[in-house]
Amino acid sequence: MKETLRPHRSLLYVPASSERMIAKAAARGADVLVLDLEDGVHPSHKEAARERLQESRAALGAGGAVVALRTNPPEGPGGQADLEAAATAGFDAVLLPKAESGEVVRVARDVLGRAAPLWLMIETAPGARNVFDLARLPGVEGLVFGSADYRLSLGARMRQGESELDFVRQRILLAARAAGIHGWDAPWFAFRDLEGLRGSARRAAEAGFDGKSAVHPAQIPVIHEAFAPTPEERAWAERVVRVMEDAGARGVAVVELDGELLEELHLRQARRLLAR
Ligand code: COA
Ligand code: MG
Repeated sequence: MKETLRPHRSLLYVPASSERMIAKAAARGADVLVLDLEDGVHPSHKEAARERLQESRAALGAGGAVVALRTNPPEGPGGQADLEAAATAGFDAVLLPKAESGEVVRVARDVLGRAAPLWLMIETAPGARNVFDLARLPGVEGLVFGSADYRLSLGARMRQGESELDFVRQRILLAARAAGIHGWDAPWFAFRDLEGLRGSARRAAEAGFDGKSAVHPAQIPVIHEAFAPTPEERAWAERVVRVMEDAGARGVAVVELDGELLEELHLRQARRLLAR
C-alpha cells in the first residue's frame, strides 16, 4: 500500500454521456472521478461519449481529483476502441470492468503501454476466484469491488444487506494488500439512503479499504467522514503516540495502556489513523 499517495476515499462514477454531470463533477469534492463508458452509458451513446473523451477528461481534472476512465470490457463491443482512446487521453488510471483473466489484462496493458496504470473491477465469480493472480499482474495498481454484477454472477438476489458479501469483500481486500495495491469497496446503490451508506462505508473503512465507490455526489461527504478517524479513535491514537514515543525513549518495547498491550505496530497504526 502506497501510504504517500493522496487519499482515495471516494470514487464517483460519472457517466461519460452526461455533459451535465461532467460539467460540475470536478466541484463535487470526490478524491477520484471515474468517467464511465461502460454500464452508466446507453450503447447508443457510447461512440459520441468516446469522441468527447479529451474534453471530458479535462473537465473532470479541473479540481485536482484523480481521474480514471472505466472502459467497456476489452474483449466486448467498444472495448478495444475505448482502450485505444484511453492510451492518448491522459487518464490517471484505466478501470477494466468484469476482469477475470490474466490474458485480457495483458491485452489491455499492451494497448495502453505506459499511458496509465490499470485498476480491475472484481465483479464476477471467475474474477473473484482469480483475484490473487490478477492483483499481481504487471501494471495493476488497484482493485474495485463491483457488488451488483457480482450478485448477478452468483445468481443472488439484489438487496441492500451486505453480510453475504463479506467473503468476497475480504478476499478482494486481502488480494490487494498482499499485492501492495489499492482496494476499494462497492457503491451503496440506495443513493438517497445516507444512513445506510454511512454504516456500509464505516464497515469498509474498519476492514481496511482505501475508500468506497459512489454513484451520486451526495454520497461523497458521508464516505469521507466514514473514512476519517472518529473522535474516540483520534484520542486513542494521540495517546498511543505519546505513550509509545515515551517508551521508545526509555528503551521499552512493550507497554500497557488501559489494560491492553501496546507495541511498535500500534504506534504505526496510530500514525496511519492520524494521517487520514
Ligand atoms: N456524477 C456527477 N454528477 C451527478 C451524478 C454523478 N454520478 N449523479 C447526479 N449528479 C448530479 C446531477 O446532475 C444533479 O446536478 P445539478 O446540480 O446540475 O442539478 C445533482 O447531481 C443532483 O442529482 P439528482 O437530481 O439528485 O439525481 P439525478 O436524478 O440527476 O441522478 C442518477 C440520479 C442515479 C441517474 C445519477 O446519480 C447517476 O447516473 N449516477 C451514476 C450511475 C452510474 O454511473 N452507474 C454505473 C456505475 S455503478
Ligand atoms: Mg459492473
